[in-house]
Amino acid sequence: MAYYRINGGKRLEGAVTISGAKNAALAIIPAVILSGESCLLENLPEIEDVRIVEEILTSMGADISRTPDGSMRIDPSGISTFSVTGEMVSSMRASYYLLGALLGRYKKAEIALPGGCAIGQRPIDQHIKGMRALGADIVIQGGSVKARADRLRGAEIYLDVVSVGATINIMLAAVAAEGQTIIANAAKEPHVVDVANFLNMMGANVKGAGTDVIRIQGGRRLHGCTYAVIPDQIEAGTFMIAAAATRGDVVIHGCIPTHMEALTAKLLEMGVRVTENDDSIRVRPQGVQRAVNVKTQVYPGFPTDLQQPMTSLLCMANGVSTVSETIFERRFMHLDELRRMGAHIKLMDHSTILIEGVRELYGAPVTVTDLRAGAALIVAGLMAKGVTEIYETSYIDRGYEHLEDKLRSLGAKIERLTVD
Ligand code: UD1
Repeated sequence: MAYYRINGGKRLEGAVTISGAKNAALAIIPAVILSGESCLLENLPEIEDVRIVEEILTSMGADISRTPDGSMRIDPSGISTFSVTGEMVSSMRASYYLLGALLGRYKKAEIALPGGCAIGQRPIDQHIKGMRALGADIVIQGGSVKARADRLRGAEIYLDVVSVGATINIMLAAVAAEGQTIIANAAKEPHVVDVANFLNMMGANVKGAGTDVIRIQGGRRLHGCTYAVIPDQIEAGTFMIAAAATRGDVVIHGCIPTHMEALTAKLLEMGVRVTENDDSIRVRPQGVQRAVNVKTQVYPGFPTDLQQPMTSLLCMANGVSTVSETIFERRFMHLDELRRMGAHIKLMDHSTILIEGVRELYGAPVTVTDLRAGAALIVAGLMAKGVTEIYETSYIDRGYEHLEDKLRSLGAKIERLTVD
């Protein structure tokens, strides 16, 4: 079993380059199925979740190869199964995109109900509502979602909750539906726009992605293409927070500064210096870091995926901060571990915490419970005096590319070790 050992208290200094976006990649890879033709995907992150989706598609009959620069060529023409129910599928959240992609291409799909990080209930009722509106018969049986349609027809779909997954999944099926689909109250996250751009590159007609009304003119013939995935907004944010947390001076290259506005605004409010260029952000210290209040919201609000690392940063801010988590009800699993490191955190109610800044955090053995909790504990380990050992690192491998190498290149004392 792997674990991280961090000798904390070292300033991060230098430059780091951001990898491709996990949540865009995990939708774009299955979306290739829709064209039936070979696509070349560039700038994919080298992470465990991408490896798992690659393995799932290969097991379905797709032909996947890598170019020397790490791009992935996917030829989905050999896919011969519409039923994907193994443990690999149920272990990851994004496997739900196979439902929209297979239903769109073959009008039938059977997918194990998705798993992923245990950060809340994570229902898929809005995905199902959307597919049903497009004409699919859907049943949930034996731990799987089974969908079938004679034909898919465009429809107007209003999402009862703003859901990234449902917005993307409905988009995938809708490009194959005859006529116009309108998704209202759609998610506006950068990866929703990226998936729409990819679909358009394959010949689809998706308009309005990035606003809360997306219009899809379905039924066009799609073709293969070459597409580069956008940079990972959450990885960029994690490095921005880590830079601030260690009072370092870090230039984050290859990111899109407008995607980072909610975090940048909070860091500026704390008194951290943040400067932006076209595709890079520099984070530097400037005096005392003040406590702030953070509330997670759908994009362009403060992303829930950065709430946990931000909580670690606030543990040593001057004053009392509050953090409200409005998207996932169990996204506070990292708090007990932060308390073991000396943080003063009180749960006010099920969705709000109060953090009283302390002068020091102290290294301790801690355990990761989900992907972004892992990022939070790494940030805390970098801030803390002494040695922090972080167990259950497999969660972190699912979403961060070469995290320890990137941190080490910035001067962090972090090692990956193994224990029986
Ligand atoms: C995706 C991301 C995850 C991120 C989250 C919010 C992937 C693989 N994961 O997760 O990293 O934290 O977006 O930005 O891209 N909901 C329903 N019914 C549904 C769908 C969602 O009630 O059918 C609720 C969820 O319980 C949650 C909220 O809507 O409270 C937002 O969830 P959603 O945006 O769908 O998140 P995921 O797609 O699971």
